[in-house]
Amino acid sequence: MDVAEALSSRRSCRGYLPTPVPADVVERVLALASHSASNSNSQPWQVHVVTGAAKRRLTEDLLKAYEAGDRGREYDYQPPAEEWPEPFHGRRQAFGHTLYAEALGIGRDEPERRLAHHRRNYDFFGAPVGMILTVSRRPRQGALVDAGLFLQALMLAANAEGLATCAQASLIDFSPVLRRNLRIPDDQLIVCGLSLGYADRDHLSTRCRTTRLPVSAFVTFHEAEDEYCGT
Ligand SMILES: Cc1cc2nc3c(=O)[nH]c(=O)nc-3n(C[C@H](O)[C@H](O)[C@H](O)COP(=O)(O)O)c2cc1C
Repeated sequence: MDVAEALSSRRSCRGYLPTPVPADVVERVLALASHSASNSNSQPWQVHVVTGAAKRRLTEDLLKAYEAGDRGREYDYQPPAEEWPEPFHGRRQAFGHTLYAEALGIGRDEPERRLAHHRRNYDFFGAPVGMILTVSRRPRQGALVDAGLFLQALMLAANAEGLATCAQASLIDFSPVLRRNLRIPDDQLIVCGLSLGYADRDHLSTRCRTTRLPVSAFVTFHEAEDEYCGT
């Protein structure tokens, strides 16, 4: 798979087969992701990988906190649903409609079914491998850029191996559980979770197809209007 295909065919997967992912494959995609660029090659990322009994224990703890409403997000990852500004609010609504109504067949008037789907985040959507990505707080906010590059590289490397992924910010709603369970020290900022495994192509969620804006919507080309060419 070339880079263009890896980029354009990657999509978030929310339904996995129970088929285990061989440890050497997991290690290979992590090694590939480690080629990501980072500020002064600081490589501030850390990854916690959970499989088998460790994943079951983590899911059990997360769901216990979920049922108890015992949330504990440690930083302002995103605005509350009602405070998203335009144009992002509209895009978020469109995504919600694509996933819930079009793919999963869940209406706006079915909050319980919506919650049941959301709850599956905490089982990594049934994927055999769960990951928690953290970055050191010490290099400051720039480390989050490096973490984003690492995350994208990880998802592309997995795609090229025939594996599916879904980045999961929903996991940071339960950061204290993640810290306790995985012994994540305070100087590590929890960035997000990631599901990794083989896609269950029969799962309804695989019908979710997101769209993208054209280049003209997000790029401003500054062309030289005279002899001055910036040299
Ligand atoms: C940092 C990050 C966090 C995300 N968190 C979640 C999440 O918690 N649950 C989920 O189902 N999808 C999550 N997603 C997936 C996005 O909804 C998805 O990337 C977006 O809708 C575009 O769709 P695509 O990945 O299929 O192209 C997350 C994606 C990113 C990059």
